Amino acid sequence: MLTGPLRSTFVLGMILAILPSVISSSMELHAQDFEREPINYATAKPDNPISRLQTRLDGGTSRLKFEEGPGYLKSVLAELKIPISSQALVYSKTSLQRHRITPRTPRAIYFSDDTYVGFCQNGDVLELSVADPQLGAVFYTLGQDATLKPHLARQVDNCLLCHGTGQTRGIPGHFIRSVYTDSVGFPVLAMGTHRIDHSSPISDRWGGWYVTGTHGEQAHRGNLIVSGKQEREPVDNAAGQNVTDLTSRLKTSAYLSPHSDLIALMVLEHQTEAHNLLTRASFQAREALYSEAKLNKELGEQEGHRWDSTNTRIKSSCEALVKYMLFCDEAPLTSLIQGTSTFATDFVELGPRDPCNRSLRDFDLQRRLFKYPCSYLIYSRSFDELPTEAKSLVYRRLWEVLSGTDQTKTFAHLTEADRQAIREILIATKPGLPDYWQNDQ
Ligand code: HEC
Repeated sequence: MLTGPLRSTFVLGMILAILPSVISSSMELHAQDFEREPINYATAKPDNPISRLQTRLDGGTSRLKFEEGPGYLKSVLAELKIPISSQALVYSKTSLQRHRITPRTPRAIYFSDDTYVGFCQNGDVLELSVADPQLGAVFYTLGQDATLKPHLARQVDNCLLCHGTGQTRGIPGHFIRSVYTDSVGFPVLAMGTHRIDHSSPISDRWGGWYVTGTHGEQAHRGNLIVSGKQEREPVDNAAGQNVTDLTSRLKTSAYLSPHSDLIALMVLEHQTEAHNLLTRASFQAREALYSEAKLNKELGEQEGHRWDSTNTRIKSSCEALVKYMLFCDEAPLTSLIQGTSTFATDFVELGPRDPCNRSLRDFDLQRRLFKYPCSYLIYSRSFDELPTEAKSLVYRRLWEVLSGTDQTKTFAHLTEADRQAIREILIATKPGLPDYWQNDQ
């Protein structure tokens, strides 16, 4: 165990070790393509649930209520239709207000299909992000002091420092990390760190996060505090498994809910990466089409002349999106997963359902996350507002897989019954499918 001055030296060393990567990524930022035409990330006017809330606040049709303790949190969640049951608690000092975050005072994250809110005890601001259909992740802060005119202030560089780097695939995005964490909340990076999505093995997940729920024998890194020096793996985390009550670990009454729900965490991990891939598909298609139009003009080609290189660029990010939406490479589950909050019920209730009462939101939780493995984000504005060229391609590829034409190994996890069910659910519930889907019936 490191103590006293030795320990501070260690911590300082660790911060110095992180700094170069932060500095170099922020410098890279200025060269990011999304800051230029046609995306114009920083200067374009966002249109998303948070910008719309600000419009309602300005017009006096919505009001935010301030309360001692949570500040504006409860009111913001209600306005953005984010369920309190989605609460996930993270105690690693891996984000903006790191001085507020410790294992006794974790940061709480709440989310809906498109919007995320971060809350720290005694935090100066609420941190918000949203999957904006045109701009990818867009960030806001809301001051946590009572005022007559609460303002959701758009933030760019302050957040892109971490949310616009290699960690988020080079686009403004969302992410979830798993790190071994010491008793103060510092990540012990020497022991390894993981960026988490639905393909991450359960054994790598939830370092630095509280996790409430049961999951049989599948061990994870949640609810664990390490001594601060490098420990040898495998670290014993028997006490962190199948935890359903956090009251001995923190003052749960200081939060809107006593849970850090296991199923909410798994959905969050699926969703954050799905949003990144949607953004990448959108940006790449728009950038490719923009460069093509410019090139055609310069070369005196006819407007709309299609270059192979444009198709290749659009195709590669669309294929990655299709694979992710169909849960290729999903980490398998080996026993039943159960959460502790009402998250799963709240989530499933959102539907939509087909005439056989099936929904893409229905959970499996025994072998995999969802019963019908096709992401519910197909119903999102981010999907609907993909550029036509990209969306047509995604629909074409989904159709090839779901109709059984594509029998490649990549999609072998989908049985004929899975493909049929997903196909039928989409035909019944998804407006705007191309005609060739309908002719199937
Ligand atoms: C020092 C790096 C860093 C900075 C700067 C940062 N974040 Fe984050 N943020 C993270 C990490 C890491 C996570 C994942 C959860 C965690 O470990 O706390 C995260 C998660 C979030 C989430 C939850 C959704 C998601 O993407 O997982 C929101 C909302 C969020 N941040 C908002 C903001 C806003 C708003 C700003 C700027 C005002 C900001 N962040 C700046 C590192 C950062």
